[in-house]
Amino acid sequence: MLFIGSVCAIIASGFVYRNFRESCSLMIDRVLCDTKFTLIAIRETIYDLINVKNNKNDCSTQTGRVAIVTGGSRGIGIEVVKTFLQLDMEVIIACRTPSAGEKAILQIRESGVNTGQAKVYKLDNASLESVKQFAAEIKKDYTQIHILVNNAGVMFCPYAETVDGFEQQWGVNYLSHFLLTALLLPLLKAGGLPQQSSRIVNVTSCAHLLGKINFNDINNKRKFITGYAYAQSKLAQETFTKRLQSLLQEKQYNVQVYSVHPGVVFTELFTHTYVWKFKSFFQCFFKTPKQGAISIAYAAVNKAVENLGGIYINNCRPSQVHPDALNLSIQNKLLELSLQQVQLNDFFQHVQ
Ligand SMILES: NC(=O)c1ccc[n+]([C@@H]2O[C@H](COP(=O)([O-])OP(=O)(O)OC[C@H]3O[C@@H](n4cnc5c(N)ncnc54)[C@H](OP(=O)(O)O)[C@@H]3O)[C@@H](O)[C@H]2O)c1
Repeated sequence: MLFIGSVCAIIASGFVYRNFRESCSLMIDRVLCDTKFTLIAIRETIYDLINVKNNKNDCSTQTGRVAIVTGGSRGIGIEVVKTFLQLDMEVIIACRTPSAGEKAILQIRESGVNTGQAKVYKLDNASLESVKQFAAEIKKDYTQIHILVNNAGVMFCPYAETVDGFEQQWGVNYLSHFLLTALLLPLLKAGGLPQQSSRIVNVTSCAHLLGKINFNDINNKRKFITGYAYAQSKLAQETFTKRLQSLLQEKQYNVQVYSVHPGVVFTELFTHTYVWKFKSFFQCFFKTPKQGAISIAYAAVNKAVENLGGIYINNCRPSQVHPDALNLSIQNKLLELSLQQVQLNDFFQHVQ
């Protein structure tokens, strides 16, 4: 009995020690991650403040052009929608709660914007089936699209999976937009002209600079640190922007793809962070959603970046990306994995 008891005690203490070591290492990594995010946010906020004058988008009206904005019912997205309407465009708000989209239109109209046309279509970025249904609806109603803004996003949320079993930030921020872009490419191609290309704008983040794509455990389930999972999803958007631009160029389509960091913007994206606990303090330093929308609209319509697809824009200026985004073998590995995850054989399979 004594022998069995001692063996059990040794095994149990081994477990306790291992769990203690693992939780200590996880805690240290979480603190490190939070510190890195805080430092990068401070650096970028200072950069935003210095570049206030560069953050502007002078541009003529875009009558007759059609744009889709995912996550267009609030935050930075609603301001992008408003800007496009001011430019007299037809704007499709893609959002998971259509009544919120309708409310956003009402709000924009009540603010005095009476140009352009706005419509709402349902899209839940946490479901690949919803992405397919949305694309099918758009294809039924339109033959051409000129601008696709992949903006919907979530940040620093606790571990959760999408309908298809992908970690939420990976699924919503990156993968759903990957599939959406592939499905809408025929319409974007149809809308592009040699003198005025169609444009895809991926709303990424400076957070991509802290990312690493964990190909061995894309959900990061083995050691989940939400900040790194967000950074991974944004690095994936960035990496795919670079790869897609080369592919579009090879195929000589009149479609360009850009990535944009909107700035450090005061929105509900920060709900899961300490920023939200000290709202009034941080609000003084961060960009407003209207200021955040400027670089996105710039990437979408400004003539200054015509034919400069592939660039990463920050405060309406090209900026440096994470070296992994430029690495062709990482780009190809990501493309292969993403095709497999959304069950496509070829990214261009929907284009005639
Ligand atoms: N704010 C910043 O400082 C900052 C910095 C860098 C990059 N960004 C990027 O900018 C983009 C917009 O962020 P934001 O600051 O405007 O955040 P936000 O105010 O929280 O808005 C997020 C938008 O995404 C939508 N969304 C979230 N999950 C969705 C889902 N499953 N299906 C469809 N729509 C979904 C939300 O719609 P619901 O109303 O239905 O939730 C909302 O419209 C994000 O991609 C974010 O990563 C923001």
